[in-house]
Amino acid sequence: MFRSKQFCLAAFCLWVSAVQGFAPVFRGFRFQSQRLLQNNAAPSGEYEYALLFDCDGVILETEEFHRQAYNGAFEAAELTIDGEPVVWSVEYYDVLQNTVGGGKPKMFFHFRNTTKAFPMSGQKPAPVTLEEQQALIDALQTDKTGRYKKFVEENAVCRPGVLELMDEALANPMIAVGVCSASTKEAAQRTLSVTLGQERIEKLDVCILGDDVSEKKPSPMIYNEAAKRIGVPADRCVVIEDSLIGLQAAKGANMKCVITYTGGTKDEDFYGEGADAKVPNLGSRGVTLASIFDPIMENGSDAELMVGLKDPPAVPAA
Ligand SMILES: *[C@@H]1O[C@H](CO)[C@@H](O)[C@H](O)[C@H]1NC(C)=O
Ligand SMILES: *[C@@H]1O[C@H](CO)[C@@H](O)[C@H](O)[C@H]1NC(C)=O
Repeated sequence: MFRSKQFCLAAFCLWVSAVQGFAPVFRGFRFQSQRLLQNNAAPSGEYEYALLFDCDGVILETEEFHRQAYNGAFEAAELTIDGEPVVWSVEYYDVLQNTVGGGKPKMFFHFRNTTKAFPMSGQKPAPVTLEEQQALIDALQTDKTGRYKKFVEENAVCRPGVLELMDEALANPMIAVGVCSASTKEAAQRTLSVTLGQERIEKLDVCILGDDVSEKKPSPMIYNEAAKRIGVPADRCVVIEDSLIGLQAAKGANMKCVITYTGGTKDEDFYGEGADAKVPNLGSRGVTLASIFDPIMENGSDAELMVGLKDPPAVPAA
């Protein structure tokens, strides 16, 4: 019994590798075999188009998790300035997001530029030397990171319409699907497994995370690398982004870019920076695979996407 099971398994493996090896001959099998390939497999040349998702802000909104994690860390450290607790409001966090990149620089900016004073921590006086200030910021950041991870694990859900569009693309044998995230690998993997689920992650054709490329967005490096790995020309790749920095990375790679903005980025001039379409949410506007790719398939890569769904362009100043 055991033997024959082993034999069946071996036969099955042989069959699978044969199908994979001759995949281009059996068009019907192409889709299945491609999905079995590793994310970092060599370019296969099997896909004609690609849909690439940014992670933070696009697959899920993380801004609110970050803000609450900072406030949790501030509260735990009993930070006060002139007797007032240190708290970052939604509006203020938007300002921080659009002014300074990175967690520690945000805190330094707050205490140096906004309050122009470092806080007391419980009964401990405010740090005076640069070294003491750095030590406080380092400790706050470490605590914040732990809180953030916990928030994501317990509460993260996808933005509306993301899973529907991703699944539609994964089911289409002509379209490669990927995630290109600037966050550090560990954070991104955790976020993706909570939001997309392991099964869907394994179906992705490419998944490039922060530390996989040496230059961060707005450098186009991450998208150039994605196009190379899936073997699809850049002008047939469509990127979904939520920020100007992500848009610049996509456009720098000569790709099409659809923006799903957030509360913090809704007022940015995305069309002015070359966005092909912008919508508040994929789900709320009924964005489907056809609304993105039919125009490109029918009229070439200069075609207009998502006609009738996207926000109208800003009226140019007279
Ligand atoms: C914060 O203030 C310092 C001077 O204290 C200034 O050099 C720096 O540019 C300010 N940062 C921002 C982001 O405005
Ligand atoms: C292709 O372009 C033509 C002419 O502009 C237009 O009428 C048609 O709707 C386009 N096709 C798609 C799928 O958008």
